[in-house]
Amino acid sequence: MKRIAVFTSGGDAPGMNAAIRAVVRSGVAHGLEVIGIRSGYQGMIEGDFVPMGPRDVANTLQRGGTILLTARSKEFMTPEGRAKAAENLKEAGIDGVIAIGGNGTYAGAAKLQAEHHIPVVGAPGTIDNDLYGTDYTIGFDTAVNTALDAIDRIRDTAASHSRVFFIEVMGRHAGFIALEVGIAGGAEVVVIPEIPTDAQACAEVINKSAEKGKRSSIVVVAEGGYEGGAEQLARDVRQYSGFEGRVTVLGHIQRGGSPTAKDRVLASRLGAACVEALLSGASGVAIGEVNDEIRLTPFKEAIEKRKDINHKKYELARVLAL
Ligand code: F6P
Repeated sequence: MKRIAVFTSGGDAPGMNAAIRAVVRSGVAHGLEVIGIRSGYQGMIEGDFVPMGPRDVANTLQRGGTILLTARSKEFMTPEGRAKAAENLKEAGIDGVIAIGGNGTYAGAAKLQAEHHIPVVGAPGTIDNDLYGTDYTIGFDTAVNTALDAIDRIRDTAASHSRVFFIEVMGRHAGFIALEVGIAGGAEVVVIPEIPTDAQACAEVINKSAEKGKRSSIVVVAEGGYEGGAEQLARDVRQYSGFEGRVTVLGHIQRGGSPTAKDRVLASRLGAACVEALLSGASGVAIGEVNDEIRLTPFKEAIEKRKDINHKKYELARVLAL
């Protein structure tokens, strides 16, 4: 193997740059040439390739977003799009590819490998932490800390006005961010897709909290946790609770910002492990970290298996909201 390529795809996540940097620098340390593909699978189709050396990734470790840009390519979902992408990779003499992204990125990588026999390995880059085969995904820890900072601020005003706040966090179909910030932010209720909660049950907790002397409450709602999101939940809860509710949707603020130390270290480790995996002949696998060890999981498994939340943590959030 002489020349490898790296790209980021899907939603950006803090720490993606640290992963790119690790791929470039460990690739070069192993005597490889490294090519960056800009704008994910779309750039692969359009041949948007740039050679990358160690200096090209200088001063990127602490930066949010992705220097290689990202996209969600519809064209790559077609066999013709993938054929064009594969042709470009072969023409550029690329012997192996490293894909950094989430579930959709892995699905594309699995197809590229199966249909065109190009060695591909993946690194988990998404704030959602919803990928099987790794304890944590790159960007999750930063997103949690960003959301937590916002929740702490909201609690100040919630307490001052004796209000109930419904705070919606990202996570797509998973409740990892919500559960983590729910515990760290001392939420009275955590609403996540893995454990359905209805408005009446939510209102009961808020009402009981008030009876116990709490003057304000925070309800953390995962975006996939309630049909219609936090806005709808707040409307529905109003039927069963006399509290004046306010809604804050944190949105894309959770995707930006400088990665935490934890994300930088995870991304550095996984980026370097991707290079080593390709060099050892691995292909069609996602690289993750499980119990502090590098773990290789076949794409099929990483895509199809659902990583569950920790139910003990959910119980803890409930108990500590007393
Ligand atoms: O997968 C990351 C994520 O931020 C999800 O939490 C969210 O559902 C989605 O991406 C938003 O996507 P977009 O940026 O395309 O609106």
